[in-house]
Amino acid sequence: MNHFTELILKRRSIREYNTEEKISHSVIKQIMETALMAPTSKNSQAWQFILIEDKMMLKNISACKSHGAAFISKCNLAVIVLIDPLCSEAHIEDATIAATYIQLQSENLNLGSCWVHIRERKTTNNYDSEQYIKDLLNIPSHLCVECIISIGNKIKEIKHHKKMEIQWEKVHNGKW
Ligand SMILES: Cc1cc2nc3c(=O)[nH]c(=O)nc-3n(C[C@H](O)[C@H](O)[C@H](O)COP(=O)(O)O)c2cc1C
Repeated sequence: MNHFTELILKRRSIREYNTEEKISHSVIKQIMETALMAPTSKNSQAWQFILIEDKMMLKNISACKSHGAAFISKCNLAVIVLIDPLCSEAHIEDATIAATYIQLQSENLNLGSCWVHIRERKTTNNYDSEQYIKDLLNIPSHLCVECIISIGNKIKEIKHHKKMEIQWEKVHNGKW
């Protein structure tokens, strides 16, 4: 099996991290280099990324949603994926692909990661999650917060995807 196929099988959403060992700057650089090479509609490259390693800030960020974000407080690095909707009609797709590249490169470097969805989500106080992140990080109002990718050293490997479990019935040949 080639490396890329193994990488795809191995990548799972990882929500528990060992934060004792820091992620080196060269590794963070490799991850972000990958994001910055992601394809974008009309080559707009309208994304922006904020890297957060500060523990207190990670804790504050983890309160951005009522569910599914608590583990951010215990990750090594959170990448806030932003995009300018005025610079790209396909801004959701552009941001999504960059976020996916971040996850795949993280796995390639043997780090765990998880996507935390922000758009149209609410905090426990029913405050808009996107606005919460914008307030916290002083993000210009015209940018959209697409998602947050939490990254960290894996505590354990979780069950890899298996080719025999994939849903081939979703693939239609020639016609529906
Ligand atoms: C668009 C999108 C939004 C997601 N949002 C969250 C989230 O807010 N919190 C979370 O814990 N996981 C989130 N996930 C991770 C999914 O739960 C996970 O990818 C799915 O269960 C499949 O598991 P796997 O990634 O291990 O293959 C999200 C994934 C995607 C693609």
